[in-house]
Amino acid sequence: MNIIETKELSFSYKRENDEKVVLDGLNIDIKEGSFTAIIGHNGSGKSTFAKHINAILLPCGGSITVCGIDTSDEKKLYELRKSAGMVFQNPDNQIVATIVEEDVAFGLENLAIDREEMHRRVEAALKAVNMYEHRKRAPHLLSGGQKQRVAIAGILAMQPRCIVLDEPTAMLDPQGRREVMDTILSLNRENNITIVLITHYMDEAAKADRVIVLDKGKVRFDAPPREVFREEEKLRDLGLSVPDSTALVHALRKKGINIEKETLTPKECAEEILSVTVDIRTRLKR
Ligand SMILES: Nc1ncnc2c1ncn2[C@@H]1O[C@H](COP(=O)(O)OP(=O)(O)O)[C@@H](O)[C@H]1O
Ligand SMILES: [Mg+2]
Repeated sequence: MNIIETKELSFSYKRENDEKVVLDGLNIDIKEGSFTAIIGHNGSGKSTFAKHINAILLPCGGSITVCGIDTSDEKKLYELRKSAGMVFQNPDNQIVATIVEEDVAFGLENLAIDREEMHRRVEAALKAVNMYEHRKRAPHLLSGGQKQRVAIAGILAMQPRCIVLDEPTAMLDPQGRREVMDTILSLNRENNITIVLITHYMDEAAKADRVIVLDKGKVRFDAPPREVFREEEKLRDLGLSVPDSTALVHALRKKGINIEKETLTPKECAEEILSVTVDIRTRLKR
């Protein structure tokens, strides 16, 4: 089942004299339970697309439905925002309360649910992002990665089917990035939550099932990461790169070392290099 469907989705920000097309007839279907990464250089329309998923922006042309709800249906706005949560780049802008567990409960205050259920949800959400032990702490004293996980917990408490994250790791240090990526992966694999991750880190995109490359508001590539990152030259032309492990194998290939597999992680890369090295050694021995 598709949880997100766009049909010829178009958008432009109104400007004084002209109109610049930011989304140019997008047809993107996203399956429930999948993990999709969206990449593209600055200004390619990624955030604009994300903002269409929970009706922060409405299409100028075409349509987008999320969980079967047309996002321009005002009567269903609340239901829509409950089904598709958004996490943004700056964790400090997303914190509203002075205690972690109250922050996570904040979004639930408007829902007609009893205290007990609220408690249960907050606890489950904090456990899911591995922040339960910090529930009594002040959010502003947490690290960036911890804050971002609290923001994710706040969304989780609403029990969404889909979470859209717009460069959630851009302001984090390597450890924070790892924590947030591990959390995203586990929510996808274990809780079957659909993930749409916008990122400019190629190694993060490599962890998705599918990578969509946006350029000038159009889809340029849409395939599993191994297929997309095979196109290193074309991606570089779009101002993008590939994961370091992929680039290393491409560079070795250019030097005549025959590694067939596209590698996405240092581990895969090491294994491939090792296997050709072993191969060369055995040939030398003969
Ligand atoms: N609020 C806005 N008003 C006018 N133009 C905007 C606004 N937000 C973004 N844009 C323009 O729309 C284009 C796409 O922006 P955006 O979706 O933020 O791209 P990305 O997230 O891929 O960097 C850019 O040219 C940007 O300058
Ligand atoms: Mg953006």
